[in-house]
Amino acid sequence: MKKILVTGGAGFIGSHVLRLFVNKYPEYHIFNLDALTYAGNLENLKDIQDAPNYTFLKADITNAEQIDELFGKHQFDRVIHLAAESHVDRSITDPMAFVKTNVMGTVNLLTAAKEHWKDINGKLFYHVSTDEVYGSLGEEGLFTETTAYDPNSPYSASKASSDHFVRSYGETYKLPYVISNCSNNYGPNHFPEKLIPLFINNIINNKSLPVYGDGNYTRDWLFVKDHAAAIDLVFHKGSNNETYNIGGFNEWKNIDLVKLLCQQMDQKLGRNEGESEKLITYVKDRPGHDLRYAIDATKLNKELGWKPSVTFEEGLSKTIDWYLENEEWLKNVTSGSYQQYYNKQYN
Ligand code: NAD
Ligand code: TYD
Repeated sequence: MKKILVTGGAGFIGSHVLRLFVNKYPEYHIFNLDALTYAGNLENLKDIQDAPNYTFLKADITNAEQIDELFGKHQFDRVIHLAAESHVDRSITDPMAFVKTNVMGTVNLLTAAKEHWKDINGKLFYHVSTDEVYGSLGEEGLFTETTAYDPNSPYSASKASSDHFVRSYGETYKLPYVISNCSNNYGPNHFPEKLIPLFINNIINNKSLPVYGDGNYTRDWLFVKDHAAAIDLVFHKGSNNETYNIGGFNEWKNIDLVKLLCQQMDQKLGRNEGESEKLITYVKDRPGHDLRYAIDATKLNKELGWKPSVTFEEGLSKTIDWYLENEEWLKNVTSGSYQQYYNKQYN
């Protein structure tokens, strides 16, 4: 039985990856290593928590000794590394937290893998990364796997650094690795600090929708289950020491996306047309705000045959339905320190 270590499995994307792997591969044992920060929530995994091929390990990747011990104890064969600080706005107010988790935490994992994988046959260190490492595009062009790294935010700088460390361990110590760089995800279990879940929550509660700057910033959106399916494919079929860009060719200007979200929410909540749009408020821009991200996923499409399964309208509709059906989840994650963060960020 293969032992797979997934880090950050209690977070947004990690929980979808875990569910997919635990259900699809009963022949693997999946370990979920997570520190349960504000972004990690075991409620995201309650449907698989009792599966015989699943074990939760509460641990912190910044603790090198603890990570080394866990590698010694469980003898993981492969790693899918997702644990990270993931929110750009938080990286602007506390960059060091991003250095610690994203850079030092990743190096701790790489070092443990290098020390414990004496025989590298069948081993793999899969680093899940972001397209934000490539920096910002102008009105034209797409990020490819050979686009030069040019990160602008402390978040993207920390992810770029961790990508470089993964590659350096591959070159220097021959650690087998693969990296994927994905565009913006959306879907169930997304913490309501990122654009889409924050705005869904605010519309439900009739709170203002804070659009940064003029709203003419572009992001390339992918449904989280399609990202998880791509990770499954790259994990099993990707070539060692390669990079794959993941994205659904689905660019939206923030303001257009927000208007579509408002329309869908009005319909689902039985509100008058145009009611939610009245909540849109233009606020001070994010410092160093990247203008446009857009992924060229041709390599993944052609080499591994991956395609997204839903259109944006379908994915957004499923996402809104999930939040409307999971009010308790939303209430739980927005209690406690959430309000403090929200007031500091938006008031
Ligand atoms: P998230 O913030 O929802 O979840 C992060 C998880 O990591 C949480 O469960 C948290 O408890 C855990 N964690 C944080 N610090 C930890 C530590 N020190 N030790 C152990 N666990 C820790 O993040 P997400 O949006 O699910 O992103 C997952 C990964 O995918 C990240 O590496 C992110 O950079 C990458 N990514 C995200 C997106 C996106 O749109 N969200 C897009 C591309 C890539
Ligand atoms: P976000 O979800 O934070 O993802 P990222 O910064 O990693 O792309 O933001 C997506 C876009 O939405 C980005 O251009 C910033 C913008 N945005 C707002 O306009 N208002 C908000 O309150 C938030 C959180 C984001």
